[in-house]
Amino acid sequence: MMILETKRLILRPWDPENAEELYQYAKDPAVGPPAGWPPHTSVDNSRQIIKTVLSQPEVYAVCLKDGKPIGSIGLHLKGSTDMTDQDTECELGYWLGKPYWGQRLIPEAARELLRHAFMELGMQAVWCGYYEGNEKSRRVQEKLGFEFHHKTEKVDVPLLQEVRTGYCNLMTKQRWQKVQLFLNQKELLDIFRQKNAISQAQYNKSLGDLREKMGISL
Ligand SMILES: CC(C)(COP(=O)(O)OP(=O)(O)OC[C@H]1O[C@@H](n2cnc3c(N)ncnc32)[C@H](O)[C@@H]1OP(=O)(O)O)[C@@H](O)C(=O)NCCC(=O)NCCS
Repeated sequence: MMILETKRLILRPWDPENAEELYQYAKDPAVGPPAGWPPHTSVDNSRQIIKTVLSQPEVYAVCLKDGKPIGSIGLHLKGSTDMTDQDTECELGYWLGKPYWGQRLIPEAARELLRHAFMELGMQAVWCGYYEGNEKSRRVQEKLGFEFHHKTEKVDVPLLQEVRTGYCNLMTKQRWQKVQLFLNQKELLDIFRQKNAISQAQYNKSLGDLREKMGISL
């Protein structure tokens, strides 16, 4: 597995040595249950989870640049997701320690993982879901450019013995390429605006035109 890097983060495989840090965040009932898994019960429990669930291929510890793990993100490949049975499709999953919420760290990590999925792993589509009521995760997927695909009533959440409503979103490779193009164009507009080369009104008009032309509302 590779080590991936973004402006603020390093994504690298989990190590059983990280059990204490994992437990610190994963014991919080605000973290696991919205994603469908119970809070960790001890450092030993976290160590076991590193050795089993988090050691699967393409699962990465989300680390600050000093190497400290603060969350997890992964591409769940065929066999470890119920969203697809195709070799060229996978499911994106993520969570972050609560003290770090709200800094757009997971969107940053997810953008890099999507690039990895499409450019390096040969994926054609990435699925991503959230349970009804998880507005934070819904927003992450919206900001990444995922498109709504379907909703499923009465999904079993086996680890919590609950039944919920699930929303399933899709990013095809074609859609991802279009989002990249849109973001590149938007970045140019942002630079022009910052340098005062265009007025705020010209910026708004150009961004509106771009959104309309590309059918993207990011
Ligand atoms: C979902 C999650 C990974 C988002 O990560 P993040 O790096 O904080 O993402 P963002 O900073 O982009 O914030 C996403 C949204 O959360 C909300 N939010 C941010 N900080 C928050 C906070 N401290 N408290 C409550 N909500 C907050 C905002 O609505 C934000 O959307 P915005 O862009 O419209 O402002 C994180 O909240 C989490 O780990 N939640 C629990 C686990 C989970 O639900 N995993 C996903 C399962 S599908």
